[in-house]
Amino acid sequence: MNAQTTGRMQDKVVLVTGAASGIGEAAALLFHAEGARLVLADIDQERGAALAARLGASFIAADVSREEQVEAAVLHTVRQHGRIDCMINNAGVVGAVGSIMETDARAWHATQAILLDSVFFGIKHAARRMRERRSGVILSLSSIAGVMGGLGPHAYTAAKHAVIGLTRSAASELSQYGIRVNAVAPGTTVTPLVEGIRGGREAAIQGATQVSPLGSPLMPDEIAAALLYLASDAAAHVTAHTLVVDSGVTAGGFASGASVLRDRPMSFIGPSGQGEHP
Ligand SMILES: NC(=O)c1ccc[n+]([C@@H]2O[C@H](COP(=O)([O-])OP(=O)(O)OC[C@H]3O[C@@H](n4cnc5c(N)ncnc54)[C@H](O)[C@@H]3O)[C@@H](O)[C@H]2O)c1
Repeated sequence: MNAQTTGRMQDKVVLVTGAASGIGEAAALLFHAEGARLVLADIDQERGAALAARLGASFIAADVSREEQVEAAVLHTVRQHGRIDCMINNAGVVGAVGSIMETDARAWHATQAILLDSVFFGIKHAARRMRERRSGVILSLSSIAGVMGGLGPHAYTAAKHAVIGLTRSAASELSQYGIRVNAVAPGTTVTPLVEGIRGGREAAIQGATQVSPLGSPLMPDEIAAALLYLASDAAAHVTAHTLVVDSGVTAGGFASGASVLRDRPMSFIGPSGQGEHP
């Protein structure tokens, strides 16, 4: 344990999907620093295996859109460490983009497979193992596109909304086994996914700064910190919850139009002489 960390995941066995990059990588680094025993899964074998080697963790190649590969990752974790305490369903892509009127059904289904089916598979197979021990935490990545329309492509938005619904539904069944199920919904976060959309890291940082009401870009380690909280005993009674980490974007009221009234001197606009109002 280093001086900055407090061992909040000491000896906890944690499986992270999509761990080779971005938020998954940041979660792996933070959970490792907090004492977790990690298994990293990703479709990107080279980066995933390299990170695992750095952390003394194990790596398993897995495509999360394939049920048997998610199940294999869970079984690998249990074989190696005797149990699974925490499953993080993080792997993702942008998926189908463009007008709803042009969206191709195969691209739609491929998006749902990676972003939604994967979460179903992760919850299903992790819960089967956690039930035996009557404890466990399952976390999944939604998005601010999962709580509002118009913030992401259609297929992505639909999948991320569904992740929140599935989180609530699974939590309601699995609480009887002592299993907590939660989601994290990040705003635009500077990761290779966003860098790819924006055309580089500098442009991604600039874009994430522009959309942040707090005026600074959201970074992957801040999403990792939210995952750590939900995974830890500090959140022992938090389940069926979606923790939005978005610098306030989805609270609304940050568009320049909103300040037209907010920034006026205090007054009352309406018919005079009503109630207490001037
Ligand atoms: N970056 C953001 O702004 C943002 C915002 C909200 C939600 N999210 C969500 O956070 C999660 C992580 O995103 P990120 O920004 O870190 O992306 P990223 O591209 O940096 O990392 C995603 C990782 O998932 C892996 N992956 C992709 N498809 C896979 C598959 N089929 N099987 C296994 N692994 C696969 C990739 O190889 C990569 O390592 C995603 O679910 C994403 O939708 C990201």
